[in-house]
Amino acid sequence: SERTLVLVKPDGVERGLVGEVLSRIERKGLKLAALELKNVDDELAGQHYAEHADKPFFGSLVEFITSGSVVAAIVEGENAVAAFRQIAGGTHPVEKAAPGSIRGDYGLEVQYNLVHGSDSAESAEREIKLWFPDR
Ligand code: GTP
Ligand code: MG
Repeated sequence: SERTLVLVKPDGVERGLVGEVLSRIERKGLKLAALELKNVDDELAGQHYAEHADKPFFGSLVEFITSGSVVAAIVEGENAVAAFRQIAGGTHPVEKAAPGSIRGDYGLEVQYNLVHGSDSAESAEREIKLWFPDR
């Protein structure tokens, strides 16, 4: 099986959607292997989103992800990376995410898209080292 790093971003925590997200993960058949409520500092945010450092929205993204509590989870299962991205939906909650997905059901704006899921098994292992150094 495979691991992926999932975050419920500050908008999802603020809106009380943590249970909803975790419930969808469990109903899909994926397993929670670690779960933690965290406050994110600029350093972790910058490392997590390093691939976006040159994008125009980087500053805004770091400000957002450090603005409130985040729920971080290691999610495990067959094809966990693709399986979570399927239930999350595309990056833009209206333009890309299908109804029935987390972003498609709950989001309106690209920055406030509720969840993060690693985009490959390699990214997942890199991100898990950042968020859960002892796992
Ligand atoms: P993550 O799972 O969060 O990594 O989302 P993703 O893989 O679907 O998208 P990507 O890695 O390309 O972008 C990372 C995050 O940056 C997105 O989830 C959005 O929150 C934010 N983002 C992406 N594009 C834009 C944009 O054009 N404007 C703003 N403000 N934020 C963006
Ligand atoms: Mg991404």
